[in-house]
Amino acid sequence: MAFSVLHLLALYLIVQPFCVHAAQTANISLGLSLTASDNSLSWQSPSGEFAFGFRRIGDQDLFLLAIWYDKIPEKTLVWYANGDNPTPKGSKVELTKDGNFRLTGPRKEEIWPQPVISGVAYAAMLDSGNFVLADQNSALLWQSFKDPRDTILPTQVLEIGEKLSSRQTASNYSKGKFQLQFKPDGTLELYPIALPTEFEYDAYYKSNTSDAADKLNSGYQLVFNESGHINIVLRNGNIVTLTNKTVSPSRDYYYRATLDFDGLFTLYAYPKKGSGTSWSSLWSIPENICFAFDSTGEEGGGPCGYNSYCRLDANTRPICDCVPGFSALDPQYKLRGCKQDRMHSCELGDSKPQDVYVMHELPNTFWPSSSNFEVLQQLNEDDCRRSCLDDCNCVVATIRAGRCWKKKLPLSNGRQDWNEYGKALIKLPKSDALENPASRDSNTEKKDQKTVILVGALLLGSSVFINFLLVAAIAFLVFYTYRKTHRVITSTSSIMEANLLAFTYKELEEATDGFREELGRGAFGTVYKGVISSPSSTNYVAIKKLDKVEQQGEKEFKTEVSAIAKTHHKNLVRLLGLCDEGANRLLVYEFMSNGTLASFLFGI
Ligand SMILES: *[C@@H]1O[C@H](CO)[C@@H](O)[C@H](O)[C@H]1NC(C)=O
Ligand SMILES: *[C@@H]1O[C@H](CO)[C@@H](O)[C@H](O)[C@H]1NC(C)=O
Ligand SMILES: *[C@@H]1O[C@H](CO)[C@@H](O)[C@H](O)[C@H]1NC(C)=O
Ligand SMILES: *[C@@H]1O[C@H](CO)[C@@H](O)[C@H](O)[C@H]1NC(C)=O
Ligand SMILES: *[C@@H]1O[C@H](CO)[C@@H](O)[C@H](O)[C@H]1NC(C)=O
Repeated sequence: MAFSVLHLLALYLIVQPFCVHAAQTANISLGLSLTASDNSLSWQSPSGEFAFGFRRIGDQDLFLLAIWYDKIPEKTLVWYANGDNPTPKGSKVELTKDGNFRLTGPRKEEIWPQPVISGVAYAAMLDSGNFVLADQNSALLWQSFKDPRDTILPTQVLEIGEKLSSRQTASNYSKGKFQLQFKPDGTLELYPIALPTEFEYDAYYKSNTSDAADKLNSGYQLVFNESGHINIVLRNGNIVTLTNKTVSPSRDYYYRATLDFDGLFTLYAYPKKGSGTSWSSLWSIPENICFAFDSTGEEGGGPCGYNSYCRLDANTRPICDCVPGFSALDPQYKLRGCKQDRMHSCELGDSKPQDVYVMHELPNTFWPSSSNFEVLQQLNEDDCRRSCLDDCNCVVATIRAGRCWKKKLPLSNGRQDWNEYGKALIKLPKSDALENPASRDSNTEKKDQKTVILVGALLLGSSVFINFLLVAAIAFLVFYTYRKTHRVITSTSSIMEANLLAFTYKELEEATDGFREELGRGAFGTVYKGVISSPSSTNYVAIKKLDKVEQQGEKEFKTEVSAIAKTHHKNLVRLLGLCDEGANRLLVYEFMSNGTLASFLFGI
């Protein structure tokens, strides 16, 4: 007897530490509760793949009551109760003895749901990711699958009228401006709304699954099936498959389909086994969100806010940039749009407009007709430029095919593309234009591009050996001016001996302006031009983004880093730093202009 008590105690002590974060209950019975704190318990599904409980958001002391994928390091949220109203420590979700289910704040104030769900006999976190509340007859009173946020999971169905709502940013779960709804006529529509109202702008995407002549040929349900496909089931039983890409075998992956904060509805997969992986995007709609908005109306409704323009990054995700002379209303929430840094004045006294303002070029950028106030025919670029400069109401003009459109503020639904869409001319106060040398000028950009092609080609050599030889060949090209504004890796790892800088993926994404300017492409990755600024200097860098090939990528990365880092010699092109964030592996090199290279090669 004594032995078995001791035995049990020992077992308890051994097992207990592993159980701290999870109470694996198939049925959550009356009287149980969870409290928001740093090491809150959670209620797991029987398989352990999903958990229900509190999750801290970002580095704030606020929590969401949520459901997440519990077996992956990211703990990706697939549902949250209180995105608009995160709660502090001490908040509590409880299934009371008398069958009420509710989330309350630290002062017992009721937060969610409203009204409280009563008559509950038990709750359960199911292996599908659905959290359910049932009465004593096991009839469902509420289920998270029927109250979705921004994500649906395999086996989840969207019925007519049900919708997903994006969040505001990656880390702000407040309601964002995009919705995806399975409309009463049977089409799936993705559209923006005019926050804080529910006013719907024209859709970016509509499935072609409504048939006015034959109602049976119209959509009935949106089904996310177990093998990771998103289908629309028609009333006559036919199936229209929306997704066109899979991973196999499908049971080896976790899936989710999320209406992302940038407006794309994306199907993601995550391998259940293997380390260093991340969610990869298989399919998304709309194809080009910057051009998906066709309305000629006066209002906004484009994916980016007023006075900005939309362009796609290398992964066809939208980026919203402010027009030069404007800055973001909320740097945390770029989609909100931009405000003019300095209002232009019509009272210039004795000065001429050209003494006060300059026209800055922004190639391939345009705003649809809604922001025009005047159109001038058969005008060349210089005349268009002058006409806007002399017109104190004109802030932006666009020129294309001999036509000059003068634009008024705010500019709505702007977009940029590398096709020939003419160019935009932005009127800037002269002092701003000088302070803003980073703003692009099409002519210098072209020159820049030429000068870097050679270097891009050199860096592209895909084998470490060739890279190494080339790198060794272009001696004397080292930039000595790089100031270390980034933290230095202090890891004891051998590859880090050379004081390499650690960059986050986000920093490099910013440095390359969203991986915008490609210098070249090789077997293992793509090289982009980037700029890394410090208070004292601006340095051009070449950033090699390694492809997400698991095995070779990993090896190539380690070999390349250690080879180059160890031979940290002044005569070699310097590896400045790296980024190693899961599947995102990037190498940051000094960037050499053509001039330096030529002077080396020809001994000038
Ligand atoms: C959960 O509780 C219900 C009702 O008491 C019962 O019918 C069901 O079998 C229970 N499920 C499990 C897995 O214990
Ligand atoms: C999210 O954004 C909204 C408005 O933009 C703001 O009021 C709210 O405080 C933000 N939430 C968090 C958790 O930062
Ligand atoms: C979708 O469009 C095509 C032609 O564009 C049409 O033939 C087809 O019947 C449509 N599908 C549905 C379900 O309406
Ligand atoms: C899921 O949908 C796809 C495409 O319609 C289909 O090929 C597949 O068999 C479906 N899987 C299941 C488990 O129903
Ligand atoms: C899937 O469809 C998109 C358009 O929706 C297309 O761009 C892409 O090439 C297709 N992929 C495959 C593998 O067919």
